[in-house]
Amino acid sequence: MAELLRKLWKEKDGRRMAEYIVIVLIIAFAGIIIVSGCGDDSKDAIDCTCSTLAEVAEQTGFWIGAAIADPEGDLEQKTIGVHFNSVTAENAMKWGSLAPSVGQYDFQEADALVDFADERGVRIRGHVLVWRNQQPADLEAEVLGADDPEARLRAILAEHIEAVAGRYSGQVDTWDVVNEPMEQYGIQIDNNLFYQYLGEEYIDESFSLARAADPQARLFLNEYFYVHNPTDERVVAFHALVKRLLERGVPIDGVGIQGHFWGILGVDELPARTAFEEMLRSFTELGLEVEITEMDVSRNYFPHAEDPFAEQAQVYADVFAACRAVPDCIGVTTWGMSDINTWLDRNEPFSNYAPHHPLLLDTNLQPKPAYYAVCEVLLGCR
Ligand code: G3I
Repeated sequence: MAELLRKLWKEKDGRRMAEYIVIVLIIAFAGIIIVSGCGDDSKDAIDCTCSTLAEVAEQTGFWIGAAIADPEGDLEQKTIGVHFNSVTAENAMKWGSLAPSVGQYDFQEADALVDFADERGVRIRGHVLVWRNQQPADLEAEVLGADDPEARLRAILAEHIEAVAGRYSGQVDTWDVVNEPMEQYGIQIDNNLFYQYLGEEYIDESFSLARAADPQARLFLNEYFYVHNPTDERVVAFHALVKRLLERGVPIDGVGIQGHFWGILGVDELPARTAFEEMLRSFTELGLEVEITEMDVSRNYFPHAEDPFAEQAQVYADVFAACRAVPDCIGVTTWGMSDINTWLDRNEPFSNYAPHHPLLLDTNLQPKPAYYAVCEVLLGCR
């Protein structure tokens, strides 16, 4: 090339020289484009095809779960193992469902769920051992009527955790040991029956009992928030509680962040991806795992949107992306399987605003835009 240029220079053939330089520049420019195009090709090498969520979750080492409202219902069972690799009993493992009266257990429904999950080879998140709601109808009377209410409550608590966590030992992967320790709206510990008699240490005791009953299960503390930001006062108060538990040596493995986006009460805010990620990280920095345990996003958030399901998909994408960005965020469970059956359409006051269409599958069990958005996030394509 240099030789040719020297020759043209000697011949004083300026026009041919200019032509030659232009050609060389064009070839170099094309080369740059081809090389950078190859870079894009390597990006395209990521396969963004969504087979099924469960398959993609398996490939990427992630739990994608769903709550089952009716463990024996055929319709609901269809999706487990196909779209989800983890299940939670929406109600069947709650204290009041297992024991309508203190000590009188009926495990039929919960057993059915555990057997079914075992058959499909999916993980079980146990929900929940201790909670202020859905208790045996006579629990309070039983405690208040005892000569020593504190001792009676302590004994009942121990019996319950041993009975349930012990029964499913080795089958339930993770337990929500205590659900919603905070008061409903504020920043204080909830003043429930357990707190009244045993103080905050009822949480410590519950975790120690669960550890003893099932040494392999991962033990979680589960809570909901209206604003998902590490600086929000409810998050700060909950974080401080978790730190106190750790300082007291309580055997806690993780924190469940519920992730209900109701869209009607005016008290909850849609999540911002970065703030959500920072919130999750604030717990993993304590050495804990985190999971989003009960996610749903009501369509009522977007009453004026041209395409509410695209907006909904973005919220799901943001939450999943925040979780994926945090190494010890290990899964997301949606609170229900499909828009056929969601607690938001059943429970007041939310049911007054039904239908919410808050989940990943529609009323025909078909994937919604949110489903594909989640898949793309898991595949690293969004
Ligand atoms: O089982 C009875 C049935 O016998 C009776 O005929 C019927 C009449 O209303 O009620 C049935 O119980 C209902 C139960 O769900 C089972 O379907 C209760 O009324 C109803 O209040 C209960 O709602 C559950 C709610 O927890 C109770 O607080 C929802 O299904 C369940 O999705 C919801 O789940 C909670 C999580 O556990 C914790 N985080 C919040 C989440 C949403 O509130």
